[in-house]
Amino acid sequence: MSLVPYALTRPFLFGLDPEQAHELTLDAIARLQNTPLQCLWAQARVSDPVTVAGLRFPNRIGLAAGLDKNGRCIDGLGAMGFGFIEVGTVTPKGQPGNPKPRMFRLPQADALINRLGFNNLGLDAFLANVRRARSFRAAGGVLGLNIGKNAATPIENATDDYLAGLAGVYPHADYVTVNISSPNTRNLRALQSDEALDALLGALVARRAELARLQGRQVPMFLKIAPDLDEAQVQVIAATLKRHGLDGVIATNTTISRDAVKGLPHAEEAGGLSGRPVLVASNAVIRQLRSALGPGFPIVGVGGVLSGEDARSKIDAGADLVQVYTGLIYKGPPLVRDAALALRR
Ligand SMILES: Cc1cc2nc3c(=O)[nH]c(=O)nc-3n(C[C@H](O)[C@H](O)[C@H](O)COP(=O)(O)O)c2cc1C
Repeated sequence: MSLVPYALTRPFLFGLDPEQAHELTLDAIARLQNTPLQCLWAQARVSDPVTVAGLRFPNRIGLAAGLDKNGRCIDGLGAMGFGFIEVGTVTPKGQPGNPKPRMFRLPQADALINRLGFNNLGLDAFLANVRRARSFRAAGGVLGLNIGKNAATPIENATDDYLAGLAGVYPHADYVTVNISSPNTRNLRALQSDEALDALLGALVARRAELARLQGRQVPMFLKIAPDLDEAQVQVIAATLKRHGLDGVIATNTTISRDAVKGLPHAEEAGGLSGRPVLVASNAVIRQLRSALGPGFPIVGVGGVLSGEDARSKIDAGADLVQVYTGLIYKGPPLVRDAALALRR
């Protein structure tokens, strides 16, 4: 167990504004990672190796994108026992994101609403941080790099941003995630529709082939999708993924639905809802994906995991791997171990 129980840390952090608590925690991790003081939060990693998309994962629990947008805490977060860590979303240029406040806790529902809007330092700073990370990957951890588009880039030119992101992160990634499902960048989710998705994936797969030839290594590419899709849309996405030879799908991002939190304080804030209320909708999308994709196509399940049992429900729905974000805010590092143990065969 880590040296400081999360039951002691959480009341302090929850007394702060959510984004302030987030920044404070990341600053501390960035400063103390790879030093002896990492023992404050470090825990032994559960060993449960599995090969997915040609990558060997030391266990099936990963950190979802968006917690470490600038990739500055890869080693420190990895020390919580994750089998894989996904950092980003990174955009080609740095951008401030939306006006504050833009992150809200809904503690009665173990949920968050955020409308951060891809606040990040941009590709150059991100890559400098990623290059500095060492202990997590040296210990066999898998690193995913998640790319998106700048808010100022017109949606017609979105492909340019994704191509720039892909080329930049390619040499440093174990896998690359193409994020087209944040509700906080205008029109972004329109890229999930039929022709737009076909064009985007076509361009990315062609560039990936070039990069693989030049660098002698084919890096798996995953697509991250929203939970707010109907079954017909999921089927079209599944067919498009297969047609273009994508290596996996991450389901799901946050939801714009408020059905599960009606009447709670902050429930009507604009943005993406995450945590316990998205579990059912995310699992439904995973189930639809599995049925449309058939066995063998990698699915990373994410959304609403707050316990080992929740993690198990994603595997039962058809996922191969599981990620957490909001659960880590509410349950702390012990969730990583609980979930990994619940999945160990
Ligand atoms: C504050 C916050 C910021 C997020 N930022 C990103 C992001 O930059 N890129 C991304 O792909 N997903 C982002 N997500 C979505 C999470 O990765 C995850 O898909 C979603 O929150 C559902 O999982 P959860 O219920 O375990 O949080 C963000 C989520 C939260 C709560």
